[in-house]
Amino acid sequence: MHIRIRKDWELPESAATDEAVACSAGLGRRRFLRALGAGLAGAALAPALRAATGGFPSAPDAAYPAGDFKITPENLATSYNNFYEFGTGKDDPVVAANRGWKTEPWTIELAGEIEHPGRWDVNDLIAKLGGIGQRVYRHRCVEAWSMVIPWNGFPLAKLVALAAPRASAKFLKFVAFNDPSSAPGQREPILDWPYVEGLRLDEATHELAFIATGMYGKPIPNQNGAPLRLVVPWKYGFKGIKSIVRIEFTARQPRNTWQQMAPQEYGFYANVNPTVDHPRWSQASERVIGGGFFSGKQPTLMFNGYEKQVAALYAGLDLRRNY
Ligand code: MTE
Repeated sequence: MHIRIRKDWELPESAATDEAVACSAGLGRRRFLRALGAGLAGAALAPALRAATGGFPSAPDAAYPAGDFKITPENLATSYNNFYEFGTGKDDPVVAANRGWKTEPWTIELAGEIEHPGRWDVNDLIAKLGGIGQRVYRHRCVEAWSMVIPWNGFPLAKLVALAAPRASAKFLKFVAFNDPSSAPGQREPILDWPYVEGLRLDEATHELAFIATGMYGKPIPNQNGAPLRLVVPWKYGFKGIKSIVRIEFTARQPRNTWQQMAPQEYGFYANVNPTVDHPRWSQASERVIGGGFFSGKQPTLMFNGYEKQVAALYAGLDLRRNY
């Protein structure tokens, strides 16, 4: 019998099961089915997804106060978005990113200080990395709202291993797509396009760092960053760059888009930290999207609840200065 030991950061099964089962009907896309293995469809998916992922998270963890991590309803997570390439309103991307923007086929380039540079078709990359797993993670935006999302995808560490960084590689620079003809926001100087993000190499190889190719048991919708989107659950949501076309391994720390736009407000690290306020608002609490009028606020946790897992990455670093 195969027994899987639960990781200490995993959220409880009760949070994930209903959504995953409910989502089994909507699988259309070749990429996702292929990644899960041939022949899966419709109602067969939920058990198959379990098999493919090695099972859903199975028990609450002491790092999480009981009862405060209900999965965000899928319709909210996929219609309340930040994706400035498709407008600055929360409800812009769901419309504008689905008006003919093509996210398949899609190629991602691995470049820089690595032994194996090259371009990968996303489907081939997923197959090469061994398929799709599930992670239920808290998602905390720097704007002080939060969700809990069941992502599907693969650990970023697997992609890093494939690239084989040289000793000179210390950081990853992620670059999003740049296509003003499809993305109306990129026809305006809202941000310095394309959107760029960065991680330290040791952050990127931490077991929590994840590349999402799906959510709620389905391919990731365009508005959430199809077909490849970074998920770093202990950091503010803006680190989770959407629709990545290039990952460059660098010796020097890259400048990310929001740091470039407003360095006094947004830094490189962007670790969730309730004790360091944004210059214009408090970060001590967060509005739970879908949480309702009375239960909709909750205290923000250090490193978004993942302190036990990631604090060691920042030993000796002044988190107030390195915000
Ligand atoms: N990635 C790109 N390419 N463009 C963006 O505007 N917004 C970021 C991040 N990734 C953004 C992006 C911000 S501010 C947040 S909070 C999250 O995406 C939002 O992800 P969600 O819409 O899936 O909740």
